[in-house]
Amino acid sequence: MWLRPVAEADLDALVSLDADPEVMRYISGGVPNSREDYERGLLARMRAHVDQPYGFFSAFTNPSEGEYLGWFHLRPSVFDEHMLELGYRLRREAWGRGLATEGSRTLLDHAFGTLDQTVVDACALPVNTASIAVMRKLGMTYVGTFSHPRVTQMQVARYWIHRSGHPSAGSRGAC
Ligand SMILES: CC(C)(COP(=O)(O)OP(=O)(O)OC[C@H]1O[C@@H](n2cnc3c(N)ncnc32)[C@H](O)[C@@H]1OP(=O)(O)O)[C@@H](O)C(=O)NCCC(=O)NCCS
Repeated sequence: MWLRPVAEADLDALVSLDADPEVMRYISGGVPNSREDYERGLLARMRAHVDQPYGFFSAFTNPSEGEYLGWFHLRPSVFDEHMLELGYRLRREAWGRGLATEGSRTLLDHAFGTLDQTVVDACALPVNTASIAVMRKLGMTYVGTFSHPRVTQMQVARYWIHRSGHPSAGSRGAC
């Protein structure tokens, strides 16, 4: 897998990713983000951290950017702006191949090995069993179920991992 910061050129791929109601099932009840949503600010918000060593990363099958797989993020947590939050959204064709776990491990290596973070968190709707399975495979532990800080009517399960629980703890990685 090849990761690089999300770019303006990813607009078509992002619109296509979100056009699949199964991809959006546990994010918006299946409602896609439209091209207009991306053009009117969503893509800019995803690119808000491009000058930082974290943010949203587009995922491809190889460095020549063969097949677009989706994206990962490592961004300020919705629960604590001083902590980084892991997230992911992949095309349905990419599911079930361990790719979310692989990309997430790369970002955790980066967070703990390069960015010297202490804790990284992640959250999902409690019914999003695939997403929660990824968190558990990464060694994340359940913190609790809380109202989402920005979408308060939504309850989300929060997980986190301390650097001591990640295999790269103490090493210096690269992303
Ligand atoms: C969540 C998502 C990123 C997982 O991607 P993936 O590449 O298939 O994940 P992985 O293959 O690394 O691991 C998925 C794990 O979940 C398990 N899983 C998948 N569907 C499951 C289900 N319905 N119930 C229980 N476990 C499930 C898989 O068996 C696998 O575990 P295993 O390796 O122990 O067998 C992908 O489903 C996705 O993009 N979903 C839509 C967007 C989304 O919901 N993002 C998360 C928002 S919080």
